[in-house]
Amino acid sequence: MEKITSLAKRRGFVFQSSEIYGGQNGAWDYGPMGIELKNRIAGAWWKEMTQLHDDIVGLDAAILMHPRTWEASGHVENFTDPLVDCKKCKSRFRADQIPEENLAAKKCPDCGGELTDTRKFNLMFKTHIGPAEDSASVIYLRPETAQGIYVNYKNIIQSNRMKIPFGIAQIGKAFRNEIVTKNFIFRTCEFEQMEMQFFVKPGTDEKWFDEWRKRRWSYYEKLGVKMDHLRWHQHGHGELAHYAKDAYDIEYLFPMGWRELEGVHNRGDYDLGRHTKFSGKDLQYIDQENNNERYTPYIIETSAGLTRNLLMILCDAYDEEQVAEKGNDDDVRTVLRFHPSLAPVTVAVMPLMKKDGLAEIAADIRAELKEDFATDYDQGGAIGRRYRRQDEAGTPFCVTVDYQTKEDKTVTLRFRDSMEQIRLPAAELTARLRQEIKGYKRIK
Ligand code: GAP
Repeated sequence: MEKITSLAKRRGFVFQSSEIYGGQNGAWDYGPMGIELKNRIAGAWWKEMTQLHDDIVGLDAAILMHPRTWEASGHVENFTDPLVDCKKCKSRFRADQIPEENLAAKKCPDCGGELTDTRKFNLMFKTHIGPAEDSASVIYLRPETAQGIYVNYKNIIQSNRMKIPFGIAQIGKAFRNEIVTKNFIFRTCEFEQMEMQFFVKPGTDEKWFDEWRKRRWSYYEKLGVKMDHLRWHQHGHGELAHYAKDAYDIEYLFPMGWRELEGVHNRGDYDLGRHTKFSGKDLQYIDQENNNERYTPYIIETSAGLTRNLLMILCDAYDEEQVAEKGNDDDVRTVLRFHPSLAPVTVAVMPLMKKDGLAEIAADIRAELKEDFATDYDQGGAIGRRYRRQDEAGTPFCVTVDYQTKEDKTVTLRFRDSMEQIRLPAAELTARLRQEIKGYKRIK
């Protein structure tokens, strides 16, 4: 993880928030490469969920919601972590994450000092809306995006004539006052989620729950993720969230071990039932094709962290490869093997030399490719070093302009993964790159 954190900073993927003030715990900034990668991961998920599914539509709900929302959702009452403090070294722990014997003996796992009693700590960030800071003005930063979908589900049925079964997808920020934020961007106080809520008829929920587990698994397969680094974990009774009837996590083998990447939850009629009760509004679905049958839909949720997906994609792509080169058998290259559709830069264009008009030709080729791909231009240093710089940034293709280009308008196309190089007319680049991206198969 240290290597990934350091590469992420060095290459402009992720920076510590407010670094010049010593950093803000639990918050991170996404640099020029990071925002491109994050946007592409979000784009891939959005395409999968909306463009490829006729029965799913999108939404972008506000982060600030009526405070009753969080009473209805159960978050005010139940969204807590058990917390203990060490009276001696002042360290703070989640009681469920320290060894049981320490908890039983009230002994700090770090310094052996005495631990406080366990107390419940609500993870929602509270603030005030308006000028008065009293209990009537309390408002929360949403801890999940899902509730924005539930409170809009009737609006969407009416405005978009949706019929059950159907889904609503949303990507957005969520906030949790996490007690322990370590492992880089894995668990943070401010993060992004990609959530989809699928509304189904009661009784069909288990079938849809199975179906969505299958779909989410094949999504990661399509992204080219190492499938032996993914596994399912079903929640036991003690683990189930307050809203869940059944839940499975997709776990990824991060450098610190197997950890949750995404959750697929059968939320039953918990959410719409509670919002019906708290809002006094009838949230039943009326099935006009079935004698106006009325029921409260069950919800199957797929909930993935966008920022956690970004960490997974970085870990999954990271590779150090021994490359035997002339006279240097132990050369190691660092390479990020991103799927080309996720890579922040798709193609880098470089002139072999800055002089003799090569730079101008390379700049023209880049201008042409820009219309279709994210490009970079690099004319500094030895060509081998420039390739390595692009490997480390995860750029899948490099185009090199040399003296032959001046004669026959051909260029070299170099592939990141195999380091293979081919020669082709510059005019064929766009079509060839499109074909390479579509047919990409990870080789390592
Ligand atoms: N709406 C259901 C829900 O929020 P969750 O299991 O609490 O379920 C879903 O969160 C996903 O959101 C997790 O699988 C994880 O990817 C991401 N996530 C949750 N808490 C996070 C945090 N503090 N930092 C980064 N990502 C987080």
